[in-house]
Amino acid sequence: MSAARIVRVAGALVEARPMEGALYELAYVGTRRLLGEIVRQVGDTATIQVYEETNGLALGEPVDTAGTSLTAHLGPGLLGAVLDGTGRPLARLAEAGGDFIGEGVSAPTLDPGRRWAFTPAVAAGTQVRGGDVLGTVEETEGLTHAILVPPRTCGTVTAIAAGEYSCEDTLGTLDDGTPLRLAHRWPIRVPRPIAARLATRRPFVTGQRVFDLLFPVAEGGACAVPGGFGTGKTIIEQSLARFADADIIVYVGCGERGNEMTDVLTEFPALVDPRTGRPVMDRSVLIVNTSNMPVAAREASIYLGVTVAEYYRDQGRRVALMIDSTSRWAEALREMGARLQEMPGEEGYPTYLASRLSLFFERAAVARAQGAPEREGAVTIIGAISPPGGDFSEPVTQASLRVTGAMWALDASLAQQRHYPAVDWDSSFSLYADQVSPWFAEHAGRDWEEIRHYLIALLQRERELRDIASLVGPDALEDEDRFVMNVAWIIRDVLLRQSAFHPHDARSSIAKTYAMASAAVLAARTGRDALARGIPAARLDLQGVRHALSVLRDAPDDEVEVQAGRAVAAATGIASGVAR
Ligand SMILES: Nc1ncnc2c1ncn2[C@@H]1O[C@H](COP(=O)(O)OP(=O)(O)OP(=O)(O)O)[C@@H](O)[C@H]1O
Ligand SMILES: [Mg+2]
Repeated sequence: MSAARIVRVAGALVEARPMEGALYELAYVGTRRLLGEIVRQVGDTATIQVYEETNGLALGEPVDTAGTSLTAHLGPGLLGAVLDGTGRPLARLAEAGGDFIGEGVSAPTLDPGRRWAFTPAVAAGTQVRGGDVLGTVEETEGLTHAILVPPRTCGTVTAIAAGEYSCEDTLGTLDDGTPLRLAHRWPIRVPRPIAARLATRRPFVTGQRVFDLLFPVAEGGACAVPGGFGTGKTIIEQSLARFADADIIVYVGCGERGNEMTDVLTEFPALVDPRTGRPVMDRSVLIVNTSNMPVAAREASIYLGVTVAEYYRDQGRRVALMIDSTSRWAEALREMGARLQEMPGEEGYPTYLASRLSLFFERAAVARAQGAPEREGAVTIIGAISPPGGDFSEPVTQASLRVTGAMWALDASLAQQRHYPAVDWDSSFSLYADQVSPWFAEHAGRDWEEIRHYLIALLQRERELRDIASLVGPDALEDEDRFVMNVAWIIRDVLLRQSAFHPHDARSSIAKTYAMASAAVLAARTGRDALARGIPAARLDLQGVRHALSVLRDAPDDEVEVQAGRAVAAATGIASGVAR
């Protein structure tokens, strides 16, 4: 028991004296033992950020340090879990507290009552070190969970046995007496160690044409998705959760409105992966915070999310980390900074906003894991941003752009026209495109990169032409220019638009995306050639191409090949249509 007492309470911040604690060390505050984290230490006074409602805390109540920082408990049973920002399962909190979040309730992340059948991969006498695979359990149907020696641990296994264990049970020991368990703890603010960062040429395949085609993200990369109110950020994150080519999904909801997260809690568990027919939840971990939860828990949630993601990466999994949205996290940071009376930077955000964001996004990586057998895994981060008033010049968007390799900028006017995903092809970018184009060339089509460039150039040309047409009127345009605008319209309306609600359009396979893009480009080239040969514009019929592309877009996977053939035929036949 320490002698430290509360000397001041200001919102979620509590000061206690005399107290010596390390930065980010956990503390139990007051007689109710509310969980908090030391965020400042000056002399013998510690400032503690409390994760729970501080109403009713009185001066003079005791404060204890926990001796550790906020850790994640990592082991089987994470998949399917719904946690708050500090790792407490919401369902159990509700049971224990009756309310959404009970006071001073410490609920373990991993259910201690649940037992797992453990199969050892090493025998007694084996020398092990951090990251080595001790054995496996079947976490969910078809998903094997590798039980790892905790990082920074080494020794000789003296005992290990197959059997049914809970995450608290001892399944073996090292020669120095260290118990081996199914789960271990890791401080969430510290990146998990890896053997090596690897270069990747593999894309994070999203199943969304506009991203895969125009603004691809490399696996292990990071992407910012800024978009104003209602522009489709959440639908994008949910589509990725369902359709992106990833083994594991970690979804962090930092909601603004209470009911927004209720939506996530009802909608996310209902998502079904059409390829397996199984709930997306079976391979997901959901971390949710609403604005009515304490601000400090919201600040912690993205670190919990990335730590869980790194843990599965270390097992050799390809993990997608989705955050909706980082703005809410940044606001939590701002609120806490203000309470600490720190000198504010731009728009009131703390001056360290950019460095925090950069440290966070750096945790996206393709990595060779520590330990044996050799494993490679990845964490790809897709972070939505909700800039106030849709203004992308604000600090969170700007700071994110400097550290992510791609941006999918959502445009309010496209969303108003119900052009979804409302991705603005003028201002979005990807620095990964060159890196991943060989993969697309190999898996989709040799001329992937050429088609991509042709599309980008065509869309740029269309924009120039639109500007010209708005000045001088569309009649002043040349035949070829008018044709370019017509083709561009089909590309925008059929190729780049994608319905999240259509059974076969919601996910576009790489084969379909390539077939649609190459047929569209073929139509554009054929038409321009015909015009160059003097064939009158009136004879160029794009209706057939548009129709064929729409049918291809809505085709189930097993009909893509047939419909792709028809789209190519329509594109080649563009100058021999009914107008002859
Ligand atoms: N790909 C899509 N296909 C069809 N409709 C879409 C698509 N994307 C978004 N929408 C429509 O736009 C609406 C708003 O999308 P969403 O909730 O994802 O926006 P948001 O940016 O997350 O909003 P907020 O700022 O409130 O968080 C959806 O309810 C849906 O009707
Ligand atoms: Mg949203």
